[in-house]
Amino acid sequence: MAKEKFYITTPIYYPSDKLHIGHSYCTVATDTMARYKRMRGFDVKFLTGTDEHGQKIERIAKEKGVSPKEYVDGIVKWVKELWKLLDISYDYYIRTTDEKHINAVQKIFKKLYENGDIYKSSYEGLYCTPCETFYTERQLVDGKCPDCGREVETLKEESYFFKLSKYQDRIIKHIEEHPDFIQPATRKNEMINNFLKPGLEDLCISRTSFKWGIPVDFDPGHIVYVWVDALSNYISALGYGSSDDSDFKRYWPADIHVVGKEIVRFHTIIWPAMLMALDLPLPKKVFGHGWLIIGGGKMSKSKGNVVDPKVLVDKYGVDSIRYFLLREIAFGQDGNFTNEALINRINSDLANDLGNLLSRTVGMIDKYFKGILPSEQKSNSFDSEIINTVQNTVKKVEEYMEKMLFSDAFSEIWVLVRRCNKYIDETTPWILAKDENKKSELAGIMYTLAETLRIIAVLISPGMPNTPKEIYKQLCIEDEYLKTWDSIEKFGNLPKEVKIQKGNVVFPRLDLEKELEELETAMAKAQSESVANKKDSKENSQKEELITIDDFSKIKLKVGKIIKCEKVEKSDKLLKSQIKIGDEVRQIVSGIAAHYSPEEMVGKKVVVVTNLKPVKLRGVLSEGMILAASDDEGNLKAVTIDGDIKDGSEVK
Ligand code: MSP
Repeated sequence: MAKEKFYITTPIYYPSDKLHIGHSYCTVATDTMARYKRMRGFDVKFLTGTDEHGQKIERIAKEKGVSPKEYVDGIVKWVKELWKLLDISYDYYIRTTDEKHINAVQKIFKKLYENGDIYKSSYEGLYCTPCETFYTERQLVDGKCPDCGREVETLKEESYFFKLSKYQDRIIKHIEEHPDFIQPATRKNEMINNFLKPGLEDLCISRTSFKWGIPVDFDPGHIVYVWVDALSNYISALGYGSSDDSDFKRYWPADIHVVGKEIVRFHTIIWPAMLMALDLPLPKKVFGHGWLIIGGGKMSKSKGNVVDPKVLVDKYGVDSIRYFLLREIAFGQDGNFTNEALINRINSDLANDLGNLLSRTVGMIDKYFKGILPSEQKSNSFDSEIINTVQNTVKKVEEYMEKMLFSDAFSEIWVLVRRCNKYIDETTPWILAKDENKKSELAGIMYTLAETLRIIAVLISPGMPNTPKEIYKQLCIEDEYLKTWDSIEKFGNLPKEVKIQKGNVVFPRLDLEKELEELETAMAKAQSESVANKKDSKENSQKEELITIDDFSKIKLKVGKIIKCEKVEKSDKLLKSQIKIGDEVRQIVSGIAAHYSPEEMVGKKVVVVTNLKPVKLRGVLSEGMILAASDDEGNLKAVTIDGDIKDGSEVK
């Protein structure tokens, strides 16, 4: 029988900077769904890519002294490496600078124009450059961009307009008649009440004030609006409008567009209107997930609170990170990211629960049966309950996965993992092992554990593609069928004579304090390297960036006298100093504990940056920075004053 198709997409990312763990979250979730559907026998097409045009990219490239294409090429290379590291199994990577995409967008624009859905007029509006979006007065929040909170500017130019208003009623009708179209349901109400019901205005879809974009081929001074360019990727990637549109015929409409909540609007209003105008079917579902929040706000480069996914994967392995993202945050809602929560999850769920279950099972088969179970096996009074639990788990996981409720799916699998650990305690194999007559009962227990572990390995594999390989290896499972989803619909497919091969501890336990310290350092290093990379453009690699005296005078430096100093609790690196600077006393936290004892610091006159934004380090407020010099060998010395001068004196 021919396989049913399943087309799933992530948003295409802006390569305006390197991607952070928030972007990875969306891609890992989409990848998990794609892997699940493949395992369920679908012919999956999983699309991701990059959204490479726009004024912002043009500006960044200019600042770096490279062409926009050179700039995005570098970031795209980095993004592809990241997806490889995270085991993202995409089938196609679309770049909006691809010839194929550019041609498709030009065709789409022309078709809309010829159909009378686009007209020329002039536009005066409020534009947010970072978001590349025009807003109406009433959409602004406190006069600022409703999405990013930044200033907007008034812009007037001759533009093409898309008759979005014409499609308003049809879109409302579609949303109401297709309850699954927007998921989760709360996002549907938001779209209807906040955007559609108040009335849609026609959309300005071309720009003339910059060049880095797709030109309107019949009016070359105009550049296609980035969102029209970007949204078209979902069909241009399938060959829409090209001589080979077989993929388009096979896979369109998309089964799911996975997007972040702030761009649901573009995918459920503008995109459907474009498709209606092109007379194409609408995607079946748009799933708007929540944000990864860090320190109370959305993780974003501009807030300086980004977490580098490569650092995390290097340290803890890809499956730990994927598991954490999928389990910790309910897909659809916002969720907090903290290093502490990550390490705690690795310790409790992966090391303690799953890792232990595997090593105990393999260890006991090795110890009591020299590594091979006899075929003569007896069941015990707990078995039927375990088998029932396994079968229920499989059913529930399937239901949750279909709805993209990954956290619920994993939570259900872990109920089973913990149940198995409890089963070991209930059946007390170590006591049975002392009695020759109980050997077949003991073998039966070991079989139940091994078969359940195999089923667990299959269940986790869409989200954690590597751990199952280790489980199969230790249980000597080579038959590919036993790794398929079909094989877990029934308990007992594993042949009775289970063999084992002792292996590595799959998830070693982590020391929380040590890991937190190391992570902080690794993140700071990655951050500074990425700042260093920034300088690595054509122009800047040859000479250091120069600043003017005005730039320098922005930094306020003063002499401060340390009057008290102590260690920051639970940290090996940080000292907390009270520093008298003229009439005021400030608290400053510095990473110098490895170089100075608190006693050594007291009495020193140091140079302090006094107009630095206050931050919290390990929860302790720091209102400035003590200057220090460090060399390649790891030596560090505070900058002190030569001779005596009053604290509070300015350093210039
Ligand atoms: N280029 C557009 C999408 C065009 S799709 C036709 C765009 N790019 S983006 O790089 O800014 O964001 C891509 C996706 O990453 C969005 O879905 C966004 O919600 C998601 N995330 C960015 N930061 C995030 C978090 N902190 N947490 C979760 N997702 C986040 O928008």
